[in-house]
Amino acid sequence: MVGESQSQVALVTGAARGIGLAIARVLGRSGIRVAINDIISPEEMERVVEVLRGEKIEAVGYIASVVDREKIREAVEDIVEKWGQIDILVNNAGVTRDGLFVRMKDDDWKMVLDVCIQGTYNCTKEVLRHMMKKRYGRIINISSVVGVMGNMGQVNYATAKAAVLGFTKSLAREVAHLGITVNAIAPGFIDTEMTRKLPEQVRELWLNQVPMKRWGEPEEVAQLVSFLASKGAGYITGQTIHINGGLLMI
Ligand SMILES: NC(=O)c1ccc[n+]([C@@H]2O[C@H](COP(=O)([O-])OP(=O)(O)OC[C@H]3O[C@@H](n4cnc5c(N)ncnc54)[C@H](O)[C@@H]3O)[C@@H](O)[C@H]2O)c1
Repeated sequence: MVGESQSQVALVTGAARGIGLAIARVLGRSGIRVAINDIISPEEMERVVEVLRGEKIEAVGYIASVVDREKIREAVEDIVEKWGQIDILVNNAGVTRDGLFVRMKDDDWKMVLDVCIQGTYNCTKEVLRHMMKKRYGRIINISSVVGVMGNMGQVNYATAKAAVLGFTKSLAREVAHLGITVNAIAPGFIDTEMTRKLPEQVRELWLNQVPMKRWGEPEEVAQLVSFLASKGAGYITGQTIHINGGLLMI
């Protein structure tokens, strides 16, 4: 893949840690120039970008919430000015605000939908027109197994992640003839800060349902993103690819 990706450019949202950082690493290692986005401090962003550069990855960082359309527009314009194009967009930024529905605060409902749905809309809207000009693109949306299965305590998150699947399939139909593919990945339980904050009891309950009896690694999700982002995956679009250790088989 190194040859084909020499001049490609990727934008990965929410990439300062966890799955997003692993995606930036794996894409970057194959020669793709990576722009990462997150809502961390300038010092933290500098540190993450330096770590990537230390691994010989051509990287640049943008501090912007995916919910802030204006900031995302500025970042996208800057990337295009700097590197001439964006070939790959990974809508990875996501948050959880768990709680039973009856007790769910309006803010927690709104925040999760804002980041997961509006964020995906904002970034895709800004990047897509550049892909359309080039008649080439790979859009990969990070959904979740709970967007398909549902989950107690995650009505907000499951709703948002299910919406991402509808977004993926509909947009895939609209842009297929332009050489742009749009796919979703639905990870099961992956070992990141997002899942580490779950109570031990909940973690064990989930683990017992995973036939592989282990958590997934961020790198394993990143390898799947890398394949979907490659030119070789050009006939795959509108799909939801599950990566969950067998937790859900459909
Ligand atoms: N970890 C899992 O088990 C799991 C399972 C299924 C899906 N996912 C999804 O994978 C993606 C990555 O999850 P993770 O486990 O690495 O989570 P994480 O919490 O470790 O990382 C998420 C990153 O997104 C950033 N972020 C949050 N809000 C943002 C915003 N408004 N704008 C830009 N960046 C923002 C955070 O600062 C953080 O760096 C998310 O979309 C998550 O919903 C995770």
